[in-house]
Amino acid sequence: MNPTFSLKVRPGHPDFLDLPWMRSIVDWPDERFVELPRGPSRHEVRFIAYDQGLYVIKELPLAAARQDYEVLRALETQDVSAAVPVGIVEDRHPDHGAERSAAIITRYLEHSFTYQKLVQKHDFGARRPQMLDAFAGLLVELHLAGCFWGDCSLANVLYRYDAEAIEPIMIDAETAVLRETLSDGQRAEDLEIMILNIAGGMADIAAARGLSVEEADLTLGEDIAERYRILWRELNETRVIAPEEGFKITEKIERLNDLGFDVDEVDLLPADGGGRLRMKVKVGGRNFHSAKLHRLTGVEALERQARQVLSDLHYYQCQTGATTPTGKEVAAVRWRVGVFEPMLERLRALGEIQDPIQAFCAVLHHRYLKSYERGGDVGTEAAFQDWLAAGRPDDLQATHDTGDNPTRAA
Ligand SMILES: Nc1ncnc2c1ncn2[C@@H]1O[C@H](COP(=O)(O)OP(=O)(O)OP(=O)(O)O)[C@@H](O)[C@H]1O
Ligand SMILES: [Mg+2]
Repeated sequence: MNPTFSLKVRPGHPDFLDLPWMRSIVDWPDERFVELPRGPSRHEVRFIAYDQGLYVIKELPLAAARQDYEVLRALETQDVSAAVPVGIVEDRHPDHGAERSAAIITRYLEHSFTYQKLVQKHDFGARRPQMLDAFAGLLVELHLAGCFWGDCSLANVLYRYDAEAIEPIMIDAETAVLRETLSDGQRAEDLEIMILNIAGGMADIAAARGLSVEEADLTLGEDIAERYRILWRELNETRVIAPEEGFKITEKIERLNDLGFDVDEVDLLPADGGGRLRMKVKVGGRNFHSAKLHRLTGVEALERQARQVLSDLHYYQCQTGATTPTGKEVAAVRWRVGVFEPMLERLRALGEIQDPIQAFCAVLHHRYLKSYERGGDVGTEAAFQDWLAAGRPDDLQATHDTGDNPTRAA
């Protein structure tokens, strides 16, 4: 049969024309796929390898596929942490029925894993506060971008270790809707859905482990909502300052940068008949440190990793006595070539390391702990040797417990 499907693919990726789109992915030959762990889903999801990397194909009804694709496209331009859309296939074989009439292709999220992986015994254990921050931060980012999710759940997010934090990535946008801005009511509704979904997810986890529902962490979603409200207030509050209190603007920007948010604009409007100023800050994406690290050194890292790696660059600049702007720039290049790249090489050579930058962060954290214990700097080399001798202690619980290694499996 001649193909009738239509395929939209973004540049920089395979054309996917070698795939038998006229058949349902359920019927494609097994050897075409890469077997990797995946979370629960209603739709058929498969992983497929190309020279350009790993991709995910999800088969679903046309309207849902279009919504998913369009929302993910829009979120990408706003730097929201979400799956990267690569293509959409429409008008496939009519015999598939509505349920399988279309498909979307996304980039496989390297080093990511499902929430089941984070669950310790029957809850998130010590990672619970990180989960609160992760979910609250993601919902705030989405709402700032005008995105009502409508189905925020533990399963519709993938997770990545990001230094001492968890980076959550939205993967399922079928139900999401984009608006110019969201009303307070819409945001509250999205939080309600999240609370319900997460309580359901936690009850399922408990049941799967033979526990009663009373033992489930049913308030996780409410605690996320609480943290969300605090963060939302912090980002959206309007403060009134006196004209001589310009330092409060700097303070506010630094506080937001510290939370990882980029500040796009600061609006200052006259207040109280002109004697004072109303200050409102407009935030951009949550990639302040990763953008800064990239600008200074060309290194790409996740946001919290970047914050930690930047502190190593500052440590290096201090040690080498670089104080002038040019001196610091030169030191940044020297740090990359003389410190960062060689250390990454050594970490890669160890094998078993999934994400070398995350491992580098573990070494930096170890250096901090050892220096603190000793009451003085132990230096990177000594810290690295000690870290190796101690069996690569995973202070950030991150370097070698991500069993879902796509590159090895591929
Ligand atoms: N970009 C991606 N990278 C890695 N894994 C992915 C990606 N997208 C989806 N997955 C895997 O596929 C699983 C199902 O994805 P998704 O939630 O999008 O499916 P779904 O059928 O639409 O879910 P739902 O039942 O909520 O409608 C995820 O749990 C994840 O393991
Ligand atoms: Mg899903």
